[in-house]
Amino acid sequence: MNKAFFAAATLSLIFSSSAFAHGACGHTELHGYMIGIKDELKLLSSDVKAGNNDEAAGRIDNIVGYLEKSHDVIPHQFSSDHLEGAQLEAKTAEYKKVLDDTIDVFNNLEVALASNDSAEVRKLFGQIGEQRNIGHRTFKEDC
Ligand code: HEM
Repeated sequence: MNKAFFAAATLSLIFSSSAFAHGACGHTELHGYMIGIKDELKLLSSDVKAGNNDEAAGRIDNIVGYLEKSHDVIPHQFSSDHLEGAQLEAKTAEYKKVLDDTIDVFNNLEVALASNDSAEVRKLFGQIGEQRNIGHRTFKEDC
């Protein structure tokens, strides 16, 4: 794997997600899971770079665990927008779909790592960044 490219791509993935932008949205349960994802992703990137694929697989399992727990809570935006009834239901379904798509990408990453397919690994890291952007653009309050 081209290490310089990989380092640049993963650094942008880890830090652009707003390590610098903790706002006044409060520390929701979801916020806690997201911090867990960010921390595990950082370790995952180090494991992949070092070729520690077994450890990397464990990190992926932890991240998928956080994404699954995120299913049971709702983004802060939904309550500050006072969503209820059908509107809340539709938005929650949309949110869960993006979480499920993200879980699929991490599961694919586990397969790509197991078969040492570095081109696919690179592509999937790109997709993780895209999923994060979709999730934040759609469901995260701007605060
Ligand atoms: C997979 C890579 C992801 C990473 C590394 C990540 C990281 C983070 C971090 C560090 C925060 C807290 C800091 C902040 O306020 O910006 C956060 C918040 C948040 N993220 Fe993510 N995230 C990811 C994916 C997603 C996805 C897929 C969704 C939605 C389906 C999502 C929805 C949210 C929401 C809604 C918040 C605000 C917390 C709240 O409303 O309670 N994130 N994320």
